[in-house]
Amino acid sequence: MHLVFPFRGLNIGAHHTALTLFQATLPAPIQVAPNTRAEREAAARGRIIFEQIRCSECHIPEMPLASPEFVESGPFNPENNLRPEDVSTTYRVDLSAYKEDMKKDDKGNFLIPAFTDLKRHDMGEFLDNEALVQGGIPTQFWLTRKLWGIASEPPYLHHGHATLISEAVLTHGGGAQKQRNAFANLEQAEQAELLEFLLTLRVDGGEK
Ligand code: HEC
Repeated sequence: MHLVFPFRGLNIGAHHTALTLFQATLPAPIQVAPNTRAEREAAARGRIIFEQIRCSECHIPEMPLASPEFVESGPFNPENNLRPEDVSTTYRVDLSAYKEDMKKDDKGNFLIPAFTDLKRHDMGEFLDNEALVQGGIPTQFWLTRKLWGIASEPPYLHHGHATLISEAVLTHGGGAQKQRNAFANLEQAEQAELLEFLLTLRVDGGEK
């Protein structure tokens, strides 16, 4: 999809806003079915295993979103960032206009296949490798990374040290120790199926 960036009129002081809006209007990731029937079946089984071993506890497959309208400066911006009451103009982007086939639940929420809960979790000793405590958050706590688009976005984890998806999974510990062990204990073929499923989550045009 080619988007025309519609905010050229912004002045220099609004660069940050322009960048934010640019990011907000990038194409959303998609799910791309593999080429062969065998791979498609493997990916479908992998999707089931993802639920069975409870990866989905943190990587929530569908996040309900009440409004697809993105507002900058937004009401949820953290302290010391501009909020709607601080500015004379807010920019509004209707994200549903950029993605025609957004799924909805029966309450009218848009269902975003983000595969994250947007929360921080204790990830254990392997991912506890920051020297600096920032914002008072213990260094083994990390935000669940979205798996939406993961196949197009290596390397993995907050520090990018994992080049393989399987490596990223095996470094999980702490609150995800149970799921990490369940993954490690799968038959090799089942591990491959789970990875085949994750490889279907791509950014449009991204390479496998
Ligand atoms: C307790 C919550 C939790 C559970 C359960 C969990 N994860 Fe994660 N996952 C995370 C967090 C937090 C990160 C980010 C860690 C980091 O940035 O260092 C992450 C990162 C990842 C990544 C790297 C993504 C990227 O783009 O860098 C993959 C792949 C992944 N998880 C797959 C899985 C799979 C497969 C399972 C099931 C075996 C699973 N996760 C279970 C919390 C969880």
